Amino acid sequence: MKINLANIKKAKKILNKRECIVIPTETVYGLAANAYSDLACKKIFKLKNRPKNNPLIVHYFNLKQLKKDCKTNNTFLKLYRRFCPGPITFILNLKSGSKISNIVNNNNKNLAVRFPKHPITRKLLKILNFPLAAPSANLSSKVSAVNAKDVKEDFGNKIKYILDGGSSSIGIESTIIDLRGKPKILRLGGLETSLIQKELKKKIKIIKKPTKISSPGQFKLHYSPGIPVRLNAKKIKKKEAHLLIRKVKDSSSNQFFLSKKGDLNQVAKNLYSTLREIKRKKFSSIAVEKIPNSGIGKAINDRLKRASKYK
Ligand code: TXA
Ligand code: MG
Repeated sequence: MKINLANIKKAKKILNKRECIVIPTETVYGLAANAYSDLACKKIFKLKNRPKNNPLIVHYFNLKQLKKDCKTNNTFLKLYRRFCPGPITFILNLKSGSKISNIVNNNNKNLAVRFPKHPITRKLLKILNFPLAAPSANLSSKVSAVNAKDVKEDFGNKIKYILDGGSSSIGIESTIIDLRGKPKILRLGGLETSLIQKELKKKIKIIKKPTKISSPGQFKLHYSPGIPVRLNAKKIKKKEAHLLIRKVKDSSSNQFFLSKKGDLNQVAKNLYSTLREIKRKKFSSIAVEKIPNSGIGKAINDRLKRASKYK
């Protein structure tokens, strides 16, 4: 990935004025603003039309920066050393002297934090004097955006600047783990649970139905392309798009492939942009073939299940 320093400096200048910009990450694109500024963070909620009680993830360059705002513990340090920067978000307790805006976490004493891996965003975080609060760069309840074009589809010219970093390499949001007590996974995501368990040498509880308080954004209807989605489909209806995990010969115009040969990492990478493409092409609904529930397939199935709640 070629890094254009002029673009990163432009992004910094806009952020310093407490405006929002869009940043690329390896999971999905983020709608970012200065996490220390009430004014800047309010703009994120307004642009996304996001309820105030749904807290934001704060993005840091490294541990040194994070320690200014959060208390750490041994489990966190272990996971940080092994997986960061990378697709994992930690819920930690705030320090009393933290400068994080109360707007970010609805006045709570905990914070979701993450260290994104995308080289452009890392470079940006390194030269800023503050961390970046950033939810996924999509309208609330829609699928996340994984490239600049999809961001524009949702926000048009309401966004001051998009730092274009190509397609997100993972394509699914980060895994969220609550580390305030016994570790708990609140959202399946880009980092497989089995790898976390291996590192901590123990089984970790996955919270299937987080409450409003434990993770407000994990409500049932989420990640929806805006048309009905049917799972484990075998027979396809008229005017329905057929979503398949591997390419087939002699395909028809209603068939969409998420990978060449069924590689689940490719499936994750292409999922959201393909769902958006199908919606754009005006299909009335989407029939998805069964997707293996292994590895990142678990996170893919979690997202599709939520999308299938749309009626
Ligand atoms: O990969 C990602 O995590 C992307 C990129 C941009 O970093 N971000 C992302 O943010 O997916 P968002 O806001 O779309 O989803 C964050 C989820 C929401 O469901 C929110 O409710 C939950 O994290 N969350 C944020 N802060 C929390 C907290 N303090 N405690 C529990 N859940 C929290
Ligand atoms: Mg989101």
